[in-house]
Amino acid sequence: MKFFVDTAEIDAIAELNDLGMVDGVTTNPSLIKKSGRDIIEVTKEICDLVSGPVSAEVTATDAATMIAEGRKLLEIADNIAVKVPLTWDGLKACKTLTDDGAKVNVTLCFSTNQALLAAKAGATFISPFIGRLDDIHLDGMDLIEDIRTVYDNYGFETEILAASIRSVNHVADCARIGADVITAPPAVIKSLAGHPLTDKGLATFLADIAAAGIKIL
Ligand code: E4P
Repeated sequence: MKFFVDTAEIDAIAELNDLGMVDGVTTNPSLIKKSGRDIIEVTKEICDLVSGPVSAEVTATDAATMIAEGRKLLEIADNIAVKVPLTWDGLKACKTLTDDGAKVNVTLCFSTNQALLAAKAGATFISPFIGRLDDIHLDGMDLIEDIRTVYDNYGFETEILAASIRSVNHVADCARIGADVITAPPAVIKSLAGHPLTDKGLATFLADIAAAGIKIL
């Protein structure tokens, strides 16, 4: 399973990238706003840092402008994936940009039927939002499972990019189901390393090291 990092914060991306944990990056307008940076400048910096796909989202809602914005975003770097919303116009933009040879990430997916349409429009990635479904008391993981089944039934090559990941359990469940990619905030990726028994065990070892005066260097 590939790890994408869901942020526009350069330092956080660099830290994870140095550890080989970053197969790509996703951004969205809210993350660009949070960074306080210009979208083109910050996206270029991210693309220079990371070799995998970097999703940059269009701002328009009509297909023609989405396509024009997508083409401008594609000029930033070879590893740009144009992110379009899962609307009818977004699907039109997806088809045109994909036919041009671009990578397209169709975002804001909340149903299996939406995912089916994105695959038929040639999307490189479909982004189902797990956390936002959980927020309204639906099970986001059921959606990942359903999309996996439907894509496998028909051999669709669109990659399932599980998004809106909020917890370590979301990551493990996505891996079990067979999502192709997860995109998560840096804090969630780092928290995958944590376990209370690791902390407890290490505390015991450190106490014994101190008590026995064990030294290696
Ligand atoms: C994915 O591409 C989105 O940027 C992101 O995962 C949304 O997550 P949120 O629901 O926590 O904002």
